Amino acid sequence: MRTTRMRILGPQPGNSETCAALLAALPDWFGIPQANETYARTVAKLPTFIAINEDTDETLGLLSILHHFKAAAEIHLIVVRPEHHHHGIGRALVDAAETWLRGKHVRYLQVKTLSPRREDEHYARTRRFYEAVGFSPFEEMPTLWGEANPCLIMIKSL
Ligand SMILES: CC(C)(COP(=O)(O)OP(=O)(O)OC[C@H]1O[C@@H](n2cnc3c(N)ncnc32)[C@H](O)[C@@H]1OP(=O)(O)O)[C@@H](O)C(=O)NCCC(=O)NCCS
Repeated sequence: MRTTRMRILGPQPGNSETCAALLAALPDWFGIPQANETYARTVAKLPTFIAINEDTDETLGLLSILHHFKAAAEIHLIVVRPEHHHHGIGRALVDAAETWLRGKHVRYLQVKTLSPRREDEHYARTRRFYEAVGFSPFEEMPTLWGEANPCLIMIKSL
């Protein structure tokens, strides 16, 4: 695996403009303009971890957390710039978030993604990433996002 020299900041409120720029760079995953606007607005209110390139200060990716209950949280959004995929940035963001959540006595972390019921090579890679960082498929919600986008909930114990 190639690596990128980076540091992880956070948790801190996410920056809407940075988030919008990241999402715009990934149309194969984030192709619904209204959903992207909602993400960009929402991350500004959520604890967010940000990966910064040590050499250029460029934002490489971010991860925002929804803290639902005392012991249960969710990855609301994780995104890494496409030219830096598979350099360990996503894993570093998840690790930083998990360390913070364990310190808050959170025991369960979930993430919602596209179910394999809909064939999509990009989201198949996303699910492989989640499995590599310890998530397991937990439940399908075929109509949560509409029938065209069946949802899969994945979960891990912290
Ligand atoms: C999913 C995403 C955040 C992962 O970030 P990343 O920095 O590329 O992932 P990492 O390099 O940290 O990968 C960690 C592990 O996941 C697995 N993995 C990552 N990308 C993979 C791929 N394309 N195919 C197979 N396994 C993959 C590997 O096991 C990898 O570990 P390894 O490199 O030691 O083998 C990133 O690819 C991304 O932004 N994808 C598009 C947006 C997205 O899917 N967001 C989530 C929507 S629900």
